[in-house]
Amino acid sequence: MSERSCLAIVLAAGEGTRMKSARPKVLHEVAGLPLVCHAARAAQAGGHADLAIVAGRQSDEVLAAASIVAPGARLCLQHERLGTAHAVLAAREAIAEGYDDILVLFADTPLVEAKDIAALRRGLAEGAAVVVMGFVAADPSGYGRLLTEGDRLVAIREDKDCTQAERAVTFCNGGLMAIAGEHALSLLEAVGNANAKGEYYLTDIVEIAAARGLPVVATTADEENVLGVNTRVQLAEAEASWQARKRREMMLAGVTLVAPETVHFSHDTGIGSDTIVEPNVVFGPGVKVGANVTIHAFSHLEGAIVADHAEIGPFARLRPGARLSEKVKVGNFCEVKNADVAAGAKINHLSYIGNARIGAGANIGAGTITCNYDGFLKHLTQIGAGAFIGSNSALVAPVSIGDNAYVASGSVITADVPSDALAFGRARQENKEGLGASLREKLKAEKEAKAAAKG
Ligand code: UD1
Ligand code: MG
Repeated sequence: MSERSCLAIVLAAGEGTRMKSARPKVLHEVAGLPLVCHAARAAQAGGHADLAIVAGRQSDEVLAAASIVAPGARLCLQHERLGTAHAVLAAREAIAEGYDDILVLFADTPLVEAKDIAALRRGLAEGAAVVVMGFVAADPSGYGRLLTEGDRLVAIREDKDCTQAERAVTFCNGGLMAIAGEHALSLLEAVGNANAKGEYYLTDIVEIAAARGLPVVATTADEENVLGVNTRVQLAEAEASWQARKRREMMLAGVTLVAPETVHFSHDTGIGSDTIVEPNVVFGPGVKVGANVTIHAFSHLEGAIVADHAEIGPFARLRPGARLSEKVKVGNFCEVKNADVAAGAKINHLSYIGNARIGAGANIGAGTITCNYDGFLKHLTQIGAGAFIGSNSALVAPVSIGDNAYVASGSVITADVPSDALAFGRARQENKEGLGASLREKLKAEKEAKAAAKG
């Protein structure tokens, strides 16, 4: 099959009005990745294919999104939204180049797997002119119905055009289709728009091909794989399915998820084996976690790299550019952003570490804040290896603390601290013997005088 050339066309020009959104439907995200990217990935997963994206509204943004996963995709514009067959014809020039297989995918169908694409292409390799991806719908409303005679597929009837009897059919169109390149243009050009929506339906090529005596077949996919997103309810369903798949994949790869259904992954989350993820952990985009890491409950990670044997949380927040080396600890209510934290360093309680470099084995006391922003620019805080930062210290960047230096608790550090030095950045404490007792007497007398005056 691999020697057959293939053009995959992803239709991404629909208005998606039922999303009730200013954004084109296909830019809404599942697992932090736009729908159109999921479809483009699926197209590629089925083996080598050239990719064409058919976009309408905000086409620059749609192509920019698609090129995250498919940099070589070509853009075809559908200026008017006249239906799915009309959309495919926006890629006419590419189709005319003479590919063996033409695949059509919908950008609003994000859960398609490589095996589905392979099944479609197998159908063409076995001689079909058109292969349709069918599925048995629990609730078929809204989907096109596959009308069969024996094993032959004779037509697809859109929901709005169905008779009462046709509406009861549960074998539905999943939206993916494969067309033999040699027949594609002539079939598409024969499609008319005499239907309930007045649109050029891609689905009509089934009836046209069947009438010409060309072999048309349907394959069957799992309903989940062909879930089409037309509303935000379906968007949430797609997200839930995607997350369930990813959790399973993670667990099978050796990651412990204590309460899998409470962990939320991003499309690109990577985690090494023997890492434990406790309940209610959220991974935003760009997170890579090593092996044997523990991520305690209620932590939120985004754009962070975490090396082996680190320990995060509970209630920790790692933001973009947090790079933690081996055995680093980031404890409860700590936020780390754009910071390199060397091996074995500890940031255990209630700290903000931003724009910083922290040396190996440094201990950052509770409540330490790097004051990295002056309202205009961000500045760097450097903390040497083995340094000890006392609790409740404010480190006003740019500032550097040398190796093995100490910073006394409660300091506001505005000047560099040399290696091995002890810095006090706070008012010196004075004790006045007996003054506490006399103050207490004075305050008590004042209160009694006030009460007496009131009567
Ligand atoms: C479509 C199918 C239906 C199938 C269902 C599966 C047709 C006519 N209907 O219906 O049989 O059961 O998907 O989810 O094909 N698009 C364009 N340009 C257009 C119209 C649509 O690019 O002019 C794109 C949309 O962005 C979307 C895809 O084509 O990604 C499908 O369009 P949509 O309006 O969602 O069709 P459905 O009503 O879901
Ligand atoms: Mg749809």
